This record gives sequence, structure tokens and C-alpha cells, in this order.
Amino acid sequence: MRNTIAILLFGVLAAVLVTHSAKANPDIPIEDFEKVDYGDWEAEGTAFGSGPAEGTLPDQMRVDGFRGKRLVNSYFGGDGATGVLTSPPFKLERPYINFLIGGGGHGLNTSVALLYEGKPVRIATGPNTEPGGRETLKWTHWEVSEFMDKEVQLQMNDQQTGTWGHINADHFVQSDQPYVSEKTRAIEVQHRYLNLPVKNDAPKKWVRLLEGDTLLREFEIELAPGEPDFWVFLDLTPFMGKTLTLWADEIEHDNKGFEAIEQAEEIRGGETMYREQYRPQFHFSSKRGWNNDPNGLVYYKGEYHLFYQHNPYGWNWGNMTWGHAVSKDLVHWEELGDALHPDGLGTIFSGSAVVDEQNTAGFQQGDEKTLVAAYTYAGDTNRWSEGQKFTQAIAFSNDRGRTWTKYEGNPVLGHIVGGNRDPKLIWHEPSKHWVMVLYLDEHRMGIFTSTDLKSWERQSELESFYECPELFQLPVDDNSDTRKWILYGASGEYFTGEFDGRTYTPDGDALPFNYGNCFYASQTFSDIPPEDGRRIQIAWGRTGHPDMPFNQMMNFPVELTLRTTESGPRLFAWPVHEIASLHQKEHVFPVMELADTSRTLENIAGGLYDITAVFEMGSAEESGIMVCGLPITFYAKAGELRCGDKTAPLKPDSGAIHLRLLVDRLSVEIFANEGRVYMPMSHIQEETDTGLEVFAKGGTATFSSLTVHELASAWKTGE
Ligand code: FRU
Repeated sequence: MRNTIAILLFGVLAAVLVTHSAKANPDIPIEDFEKVDYGDWEAEGTAFGSGPAEGTLPDQMRVDGFRGKRLVNSYFGGDGATGVLTSPPFKLERPYINFLIGGGGHGLNTSVALLYEGKPVRIATGPNTEPGGRETLKWTHWEVSEFMDKEVQLQMNDQQTGTWGHINADHFVQSDQPYVSEKTRAIEVQHRYLNLPVKNDAPKKWVRLLEGDTLLREFEIELAPGEPDFWVFLDLTPFMGKTLTLWADEIEHDNKGFEAIEQAEEIRGGETMYREQYRPQFHFSSKRGWNNDPNGLVYYKGEYHLFYQHNPYGWNWGNMTWGHAVSKDLVHWEELGDALHPDGLGTIFSGSAVVDEQNTAGFQQGDEKTLVAAYTYAGDTNRWSEGQKFTQAIAFSNDRGRTWTKYEGNPVLGHIVGGNRDPKLIWHEPSKHWVMVLYLDEHRMGIFTSTDLKSWERQSELESFYECPELFQLPVDDNSDTRKWILYGASGEYFTGEFDGRTYTPDGDALPFNYGNCFYASQTFSDIPPEDGRRIQIAWGRTGHPDMPFNQMMNFPVELTLRTTESGPRLFAWPVHEIASLHQKEHVFPVMELADTSRTLENIAGGLYDITAVFEMGSAEESGIMVCGLPITFYAKAGELRCGDKTAPLKPDSGAIHLRLLVDRLSVEIFANEGRVYMPMSHIQEETDTGLEVFAKGGTATFSSLTVHELASAWKTGE
């Protein structure tokens, strides 16, 4: 009996012991530097000031990544100051010391050291030694079990002057475990998607997907440590049936994000796809993540291809990848998934695409013509491409853009200068060669030629615009005998001029194109069939909402024409006629004469509109339309159309102002006087504010014609 009790007791005790030893001991805080002074710590010299800094110090780059309100920052007095900060002795009772560190990387001179018997036995430094870099603090740790139960001290050293001659540190804790570590997981690919949780502003983590030692994907993600803001996805289709490894480093011990990554047949949150409150309903936006520039706009066999600068894994810019969508009518888009992923030469920046009709590159395999894309490798923008520069490369598709192969001889154009980028390809028929216009930094564009898209010869260079060049020819007033070459950059500002296949000669100064606040980096479609003949442009629509799982959109496609005006030939922009396929209820209003008053347009609903308005100027000083809370006003005296803080010169046409307005959840695109003025505006539409109102102030105006079409969504339910 006694024996039984003893055995039982022993068993219970053993169980208690086992559970206890499996459970980590509580952390022991050493110092969090939240007080105004250093307390028992001893500061020598001036660099550490009289106490912990409240974040960034004067003339310092933004310091972040520390915990609480204060940290140790030896930038008091700038990089020139030096000093030492030493802790009182304390006993080591856990096998790890964790802490946050940033700043200079000059060995012991900018370091945090562990002293045992007064001598450094462990040291850590910040990451930076050269101009540039970042002041962000990151977790690091020391394994210190050999000094268990011994008295030790911490010491911070700033003996360095000049670049990165300072050290930042915070939040020292003794612990049973490292706070950050490398993590791996085996992924047996059985489902279509890998869903990943994102929390905006969570610390960014590098994540890799590997097959054996082969790196397949690498990206940076604000991995949600707990409850995510939204989920992003990675399409696993190309890896079906394989066993891959998911890897990440610097994952905090209490970060649940890495484990939460899951395989699934569906995109998490997909039930509300395209029905989210602030989802543009007839503008393209990506299912998930960020978009900026449209890329590779090309038409082939009944499909308009829209590639775009995509961050598939976050709400902000990053991880530049070419997203891809197609449309048969420029209105309804189908997102096909990412076409070009970052690799060891860099992330994939902007570029263009063409149909290689004559198989000049030799990529064609069957009857299907090859689509060739030219893009920029932004070297050194991911870990994979460390030390690489910005170069130009090509990729091709033999299956109507469904899959893409990067050319094995990439890059096709080596690094020239700085961030040289954004190759725009065109076929120059008279010279029978390809032309690439390339942004060369400092507002310069370079012109290169090739007969096979693989080897390029430099022809000329001109002072012109910033980023994202575009070059094409347009007839003046539909007269195919008089043609002009248009060259423009990302802002849309353009030249009219001549181009002989090698050199561009502008007619005069740069001309303004758009007057809005949400237009950038536009491109026009290549290979539109001659029987259509339109020059169709899509621009990045710079508008978004922080609560959405996506950010930014594309502006509605516009047709560009060159028309004679009193000032010479000018570009006009007009929404493509295909928008009519979304027209629903039509509201035609009788002539309205307004004298210093406003009138609400009744019975209109939905917040998605295509509006055509003509108003004859009477004596009104200001007249216009209020669209979902956004006033669009013509100022008669100034001869200006104004919206938000944007202004465009505008003259009444035979005494009247003509407006065409496209209204969606995140934007109002304004076209005045047949497209002479193009003013795309970012405007967040609230559910409570979908009304329309016309007004005249300080006199009279007559709204002689006013038609509102309510628009259907371009997205199908359940998509
Ligand atoms: C324009 C731009 C391009 C570059 C791309 C990167 O918005 O800066 O010059 O290729 O975005 O996303």
C-alpha cells in the first residue's frame, strides 16, 4: 500500500516536473529604456545624451522598430559625438538575451556588448556602414547559457564618427528562447492557393518558397502576428503535387502568422470579392494587394491584355510582380494571376508587350504568334538579387499570354545608368526594326533599336520626361496624311514631333495632358487591329481605401485623338464607347434654368454613373455639378474648371460647357469639351453620399442637356 502511494506520488511529481520543464520560465526584463534618464546605467561622453531618446533625433532618418516611447539612440549631437553606456551588473538566469538593435555596423565601435569580468564576450552591431540604409531596429539575441548564474553587464559603444557613427538599442530581456528565429514548413501542394495573413504596418518578413534548394518565390510581407487585416494569396497551381518548403526568418516567438499560412481551394475572404464597399465597379483593380502602373498593354486575338505592377502580398507598394488580366471589351476584366515573378536578377518593374508577328525573336513554336514582353529587372530590390543593377529583359508567351517564359539570355540590355527602366517597345514599319524607348534617369529617354528583340543598339537620347515612356503616331484630325509622333512620360505631359525610327524631334515644349490627381504611368495598347485603329490608353488610377484588401486601380480606358485647336494639335481623351454595355436606367432631365440656386437630381441611385451635361453660361460666376459630395465647378471669370485642388483652363464652346463624368466608388473622371480637358479625380464614395446636384452661383446658368446613366457593375456576382 505504502509502495503504491509512493509510486503514485512519484508519478504525479514526475508529471508535474515534465509539464513544468516543458513550459518556458517567465522572461526577465533587463531594461526597456522607457524612463527619461538612464537610472543606474552609466553614460560617458555625449553621444547617448542624458537619457533614452524619444525616437528620432534632429537630422536623423526616421527611427522605428523600437518598443514603447523611448530607446537608446547615440545620435545625440549627430554622428560626430561618441560615448559609452554601461549597465550595472546583473545575474544571468536564462539562456538567451533578446534585444532590439539598429544603427551603425562598425564592429565594436558601434556595438552592444555583453561584458563578463569587464570584457566583451558577445557583441552585436547595427546593419549599416554606408550612406543610405535604414534606422529600423530589429530583434537579435545571444545564447548565453555558459554564463548562467554569473554576474554580467551590458555596454553600448559609440566610438565611431562619420557615416552611421551611432548605435540604437532597446528592450533587453532574458528569456528561455530567442525572440526571433528562422522557420520552415513542408508544404505538400494539394490545393490551388496558399493564403497568407496580412496586418498593415506589422513588421515585414521575408518569406521564401523553395523546391529543394531551388528558390521559387521570395517576397516581403507584413505577416499578421495575430488577427489579420486581410488575406493575400499565392497561386500554387504550377507546383501541384510537389512538396515545397516554406521559409521565413526573423519570426518573433509570439508571431502566429507563419503557422497561420494555409493551403486552400479558395482565396480567403473571396466570398465578398468585387463586392467590397470601396471596390471600383467598372475600373480594374487587383483581387488582392497593391497595383501601380499598367504594363504590357497588348491586343491579341480578341483579347486586351492588361499586365500591371503588382504587390500580391501587401496593401502598399513592394515585391514588384507583373499581375495579369484580360478583357474582350475593355470593361469586363478577368484576373488571370501573376505572369512574371521576381527572381535573382531583381523584382519586375514596368515595361511593355508586343505581338511578334514575324517571329523576329524566333520564339514562336506553333501557329500561335508569340507575345513578347520587355520589362525592367530592378536589381537589389529583393534579397535574392542583392548586388544586381537595373537591367532590361524579355519574356515570351506562346499560349495567348497564359504562361510566360523568361528569355534565357536575359538581360537583353545591361545597366546603363541609375534606375534605367520602363522599356516601351514599338515596331517601326518604315525602318523594319523594333524600337525601345527607355527611361534613363534625370528626365532623359534613350532610344534603342533591334531586329530580333534580343540585341539592342543605342541610337539617340533626349531630355524629356520622367519614367514610363510612351511613343506612338496619331493622325491630326482623322487626316491620315498629317501624322504626328507623340512622346510622353509618366505624368502624361507630352511632345508632338517627328520620329524617323532612330531619333525623336519634338515640335516644341512639353504640353500638359491631364489635370486630375489620380493619373500616372499610362500606356497605350500595342497591336490594335487596323480596322479598329484606336489608340487606347490606360493609366494607373492613384486612389484607394485603407480598409480594403486591395489598393489602387486602373483609370477607365480612354481613346486618344490629336485634334487641331487654337494653340495647335492637342491630345484629347475620351472614354471608350464600350462603357455603353454597362448602361442601365437612363435619366434625361428637362432644361433647367438655375439662378443662384442648386437642384438635386431626383430618383437617381447606386453611385455608379455615366453623366453627360451641357450647361450654357448665363451670368453665373460659378456653375457645375456636385457628384456624390464632390463639387465640379466652372469659374466663368477665370475660365477654369476646378475640382478639389485641381484646376484646368476651359473655355465655353459656343457659350456652353460640356461635361462627361464617370463616377465609381473611388474616382470621378471628368472630361470637358469633348476631351480637351481630362481630369481624373480620386474621390472616395461613401454609401450615404451617392446623390447628384446641379448648381449656379452668383447668376444664371441653363442646363440645356443632362443625361445620367446608372451603370451596372462590370463584375459578375460570385466571381
Ligand atoms: C512608375 C514606376 C516605374 C517603375 C515602377 C515600379 O510608377 O516608378 O518607373 O518601373 O513604377 O513599380
